[in-house]
Amino acid sequence: KPVILTCAQPTGVLTIGNYLGAVKNWATMLDDYDCYFGVVDQHAITVKYTPAELRKNTLSCVAQYIACGLDPERSNIFIQSHVTGHTELAWVLSCITPIGDLQRMTQFKEKAAKLGFKVAEGDGADLKFSHEGARAQASVNSGLLMYPVLMAADILLYNADAVPVGNDQRQHLELCRDLAQRFNHNYSETFTIPEPFIPASGARIMSLQDPDRKMSKSDENQNATLYILDDPKVLQKKIMSAVTDSGSEIKAADDKPGVSNLLQIYAASSGREIADIEASLAGEGYGTLKKEVADAVIAMLEPVQARYKELIADKAYLEGVLKAGAGVAQKRAYKILSKVYRKAGFVERP
Ligand code: TYM
Repeated sequence: KPVILTCAQPTGVLTIGNYLGAVKNWATMLDDYDCYFGVVDQHAITVKYTPAELRKNTLSCVAQYIACGLDPERSNIFIQSHVTGHTELAWVLSCITPIGDLQRMTQFKEKAAKLGFKVAEGDGADLKFSHEGARAQASVNSGLLMYPVLMAADILLYNADAVPVGNDQRQHLELCRDLAQRFNHNYSETFTIPEPFIPASGARIMSLQDPDRKMSKSDENQNATLYILDDPKVLQKKIMSAVTDSGSEIKAADDKPGVSNLLQIYAASSGREIADIEASLAGEGYGTLKKEVADAVIAMLEPVQARYKELIADKAYLEGVLKAGAGVAQKRAYKILSKVYRKAGFVERP
């Protein structure tokens, strides 16, 4: 079976963007692929965090994965830091990664900007930071810059054939493919070049409050983001207060980002086509649209939330899943890392 690998950061509760753009689709691949699902705790420490919270969120993320349909009997669920090899391979890859490629990454620029940096527009290695002060400068650590290299290592360590992700990870995956090709070219054929799997619907769920930006776990405006464990009442309230557009027509269009996003959420949550929803709501107002979206989202998440409650109370079960997942992952990772070390010219451990 072809191998897929994909991961999410344990930075809090998954959003409906993570669910519709990613995890829900992963759950449909269990029978056709050999699946590796990682919870990337090592990525999560590239930004400010609290250790106790990371520990709690990591286990919660595992329970959320399973509650969303990732069956551990038919896939390998593991925590990144449980498998030796991710950071080791990242080191080797970093030595064939130009700094300029990393400074060009959209996600790096966005995260750096949030920390007070203005990243000057420019191309490549001479890109300059104009920063607000020494404190802002100190908060952009080199791990944040290296983030995509560690992500490439996550993927290449398993020689994954494909990586199912939302649209926001497209650029990181492109870098991963470049690195795989460069390594193969420099050291001889080693890595499979992974294909991105990006879903047709749900790949880009936008903020409810600013539909020009993607829905994100870390949005300061709590009304902007729907979390999969939000209480139904909270989901309803957030959806009813979503920003819409001028005019009153319920139609997906470029000049109607708010309505388009609601339609996209509705379609992905209900399995209906956008055109079908538009037709059935012709002549109705935005209030009706929002109410139907809320009903669809709540109905979709109800079984997920019920299952999560059971799982998070059963720590022994979760630990069993993680032990098995890390065991299988480590075996595969070790084989590939050994091969890489040999090609890199490292002396084999006697
Ligand atoms: P993360 O944790 O931000 O998101 C997990 C998955 O959810 C998708 N996603 C979205 N899809 C649609 N609309 C949105 N608004 C939205 N927000 C997030 C993401 O595309 C992703 O598929 N760098 C990765 C984690 C990672 C990884 C990897 C992924 C580390 N190593 C190896 C794949 C393979 C990330 O931050 O995802």
